[in-house]
Amino acid sequence: MKTIIEPFRIKSVEPIYFTSKDERKLILEKACYNPFRVHARDVLIDLLTDSGTSAMSSNQWAGIMQGDESYAGSSSFFRFEDAVNKITGMPLVIPTHQGRAAEKIIFTILGGKGKYFISNTLFDTTRANIEFSGAEGIDLLCEEGKHPTVPAPFKGNMDVAALVKTIGEKGAVNIPMVIITITNNSGGGQPVSMQNIKEVSKVCRENNIPLFIDACRFAENAYFIKIREAGYAGKTIMAIANELFSYADGCTMSAKKDAFANIGGFLAMRDLDLALRCRNLLIITEGFTTYGGLAGRDLEAIAIGLHEVMEENYLQYRIRSIEYLTQKLMAAGVPVMQPAGGHAVYIDAKEFLPQVPVDQYPGQALTAALYLEGGIRSVEIGSLMFGKYGEGGKLIPAQMELVRLAIPRRVYTQSHIDYVAEVIIDVYNKRNEITGLRITEETPMLRHFTAKLEPVKPY
Ligand code: F0G
Repeated sequence: MKTIIEPFRIKSVEPIYFTSKDERKLILEKACYNPFRVHARDVLIDLLTDSGTSAMSSNQWAGIMQGDESYAGSSSFFRFEDAVNKITGMPLVIPTHQGRAAEKIIFTILGGKGKYFISNTLFDTTRANIEFSGAEGIDLLCEEGKHPTVPAPFKGNMDVAALVKTIGEKGAVNIPMVIITITNNSGGGQPVSMQNIKEVSKVCRENNIPLFIDACRFAENAYFIKIREAGYAGKTIMAIANELFSYADGCTMSAKKDAFANIGGFLAMRDLDLALRCRNLLIITEGFTTYGGLAGRDLEAIAIGLHEVMEENYLQYRIRSIEYLTQKLMAAGVPVMQPAGGHAVYIDAKEFLPQVPVDQYPGQALTAALYLEGGIRSVEIGSLMFGKYGEGGKLIPAQMELVRLAIPRRVYTQSHIDYVAEVIIDVYNKRNEITGLRITEETPMLRHFTAKLEPVKPY
């Protein structure tokens, strides 16, 4: 088979800036060992997130010029609504300025004290919005999803038996929603199978609980279904997406991922009464129902992006490029999540840095080392992000200590990725020199964004 190439050519470029290792040492100190606090100009390869960082196509930029900025009834809204309708089959579409705004609205309406929201794995903002409403979030990831280095085709699946058991324990009336995240971002960008969505949907219907999909990366998930699940090889991505959404009552989406937009999101659903309540809140917090916190041009870019993301040449290149980096790292012995996920490579920091205990945040220590060595920015998905404090202020660690290298869509070329692999392998070869970190300042919620840390021993 020939090399799978980038299915685009480059029309416009953006410079990146080089720093020396000495400069990065100072930058890291000033940023208190938190990559979120580093200025983007001081980053060489930015793998902090795949969110809002996509390169838009010439068609999207052309669409931007056609954005209709009317306050009410903008033509761009109707093109956006039509794109979402066609993919999800859901008639009621509510634009929001990003994914978490959609979450804030739906969980404000359905959440509250004494309620439980069940998921395969909730993303951090989703969990935070649930908890902010007073409700509780419960993750029921399948067993194979909990072992980073054990390969399986659908490690994002929900544990259906655990779902049935939890509904029995908490009571269906106290569970306003089950929400499946596709792909499972916090669990390694791993896909959920159609079979699993079907089974979860059946349990939800039997118990009269609405099923929602956190659809940020629906096209990547659909492509995995196509190549890994029996019976889908001959189906189009649109047909797979249609089927997948047909099992759900609604969805939340951050258009900053699989819609190639730099901003945007939406809620879509079938229940008119719920949609009316969401729209009331939307008008207070986001904007009128036909723009919801977005400019007309953003709606236009999203409508076009939603169709572009389903092109199979693109998805083949996308999934292969993540696999390419994963395989290079595996060949050098670096412990990475297997198989490769859809949007990111996840390093198992616990195994990479066995000398760093979880309460010294091995994932965060590794993000600092990658920046120092090669100017690469990554993010910890471990106990800094998800850890809680138990009795006596003792850390209750997260299930896994991962470092995510999220690959922005259509942005970096193969040589950038080769460079990333070289830096990680260099760091791996001197991993014994890396020490842990301690927190010096933190906020009560979503602390990883702003926390300040320092090395437990001087660098
Ligand atoms: N759900 C999932 C699965 C996500 O990955 C994100 C964002 C959101 C919801 C929230 O969407 O950012 O538009 O408000 N994930 C980004 C990331 C931030 O880096 O993975 P948002």
